[in-house]
Amino acid sequence: MIPRSLPGPNLQVAGLFAGIGGIERGLAQAGHHTELLCEVASSAQRVLGQRFPDVELASDIRALDCLPDVDLVTAGFPCQDLSQAGRTAGIGGEQSGLVAEVFRLLGDSGGPTWLLLENVPFMLSLHRGKAMQFLVESLEQRGYMWAYRVVDALSFGLPQRRRRVLLLASRTEDPRTVLFSQDAGIPTPRHPVDAACGFYWTEGQRGLGWAADAVPTLKGGSTIGIASPPAIWFPDTGLIATPDIRDAERLQGFPADWTMSGDDEDGRARTNRWKLVGNAVSVSLARWLGHRLRSPEPFTASSTRLQSGNPWPVAAWGKSGEAWQTDVSMWPVRRQRHHLREFLRYPTVPLSARATQGFLSRAEAGSLRFPPDFLEDVAAHLERMTGRAQVA
Ligand SMILES: C[S@@+](CC[C@H](N)C(=O)[O-])C[C@H]1O[C@@H](n2cnc3c(N)ncnc32)[C@H](O)[C@@H]1O
Repeated sequence: MIPRSLPGPNLQVAGLFAGIGGIERGLAQAGHHTELLCEVASSAQRVLGQRFPDVELASDIRALDCLPDVDLVTAGFPCQDLSQAGRTAGIGGEQSGLVAEVFRLLGDSGGPTWLLLENVPFMLSLHRGKAMQFLVESLEQRGYMWAYRVVDALSFGLPQRRRRVLLLASRTEDPRTVLFSQDAGIPTPRHPVDAACGFYWTEGQRGLGWAADAVPTLKGGSTIGIASPPAIWFPDTGLIATPDIRDAERLQGFPADWTMSGDDEDGRARTNRWKLVGNAVSVSLARWLGHRLRSPEPFTASSTRLQSGNPWPVAAWGKSGEAWQTDVSMWPVRRQRHHLREFLRYPTVPLSARATQGFLSRAEAGSLRFPPDFLEDVAAHLERMTGRAQVA
């Protein structure tokens, strides 16, 4: 249902690498309409079929001959080769390299007014920013002006830290007027003293993914190879637990059970839903972008010339072989933030003795510093879980 009062045009959208439709759901909430979805994984296709029943669904992008006549093409292309937890093969990798299919489909002239690419911020530094260089060159060869910004989904009020690069390009419009039109600046964190804190129990030696009053980025994969939920420490009770998949969906801006039909036939149901949810684009971020596309504003932030070889900054724009860094933060807006503890609606699951033991051993062997009481609480949790296992 499109609210009548929305300004600006309703865009027709083609969603490539659609996953479970995070981008397209957010755009729909801003009044835009998806004409085509393209997604190869059968579990994600089931979710799309259920949630977007009237939208044409194509499978492998490599078999797609052409795009419908749309205003906006979106592509949150695979990140496995570009993310820290992944294979780091880079933009030429088997999965992330599929973005070349988007350029094939766009052709050398004509095409949609807007192109939106989305991926992880690690691609800005991996191999000295080669992925970004490739994307920018591919766009400029086709006559596009481009702008990108790293945006933190925390900006939109949900208690998940999730930074993503939004790269918006156009042959006819100015993408700066959309991406840079709002800036709330870096927030001053204010958390309750007993705020629940998220971390990755699969880590512990070199990193932790610590997030105060939030969960760290939900991921489609992990260092142990499969998608796994983060853990949450509740300092008031000492409980270490993992959230329910339905709360993970809500942390991404979806309604609970959005991926219910994404269960795998072979019984790996829970893991598969975590993977689908971890790979998704936050709905609230896409909704924000959808609204900005309706109401572009003159670009007024200051810019400085980016020399070739400089690291890619938080935000930049360019065209015809020249690039500028611009002075905006990762927080376009500052919506009232939900506290993690109050946000969670479904029962959490205590972290198993085995997982807790593994985390504790890594933490004790490494040199990371932890907040006061945290490791003591992990050790006490282990004792409780071990006792429980013996009784059972
Ligand atoms: C990062 S996820 C996209 C997430 C999506 N934007 C969302 O909000 O859920 C990348 C997606 O690309 C899909 N994919 C990988 N190879 C593909 C191919 N050859 N054709 C179409 N989709 C593909 C993956 O299955 C995965 O769902």
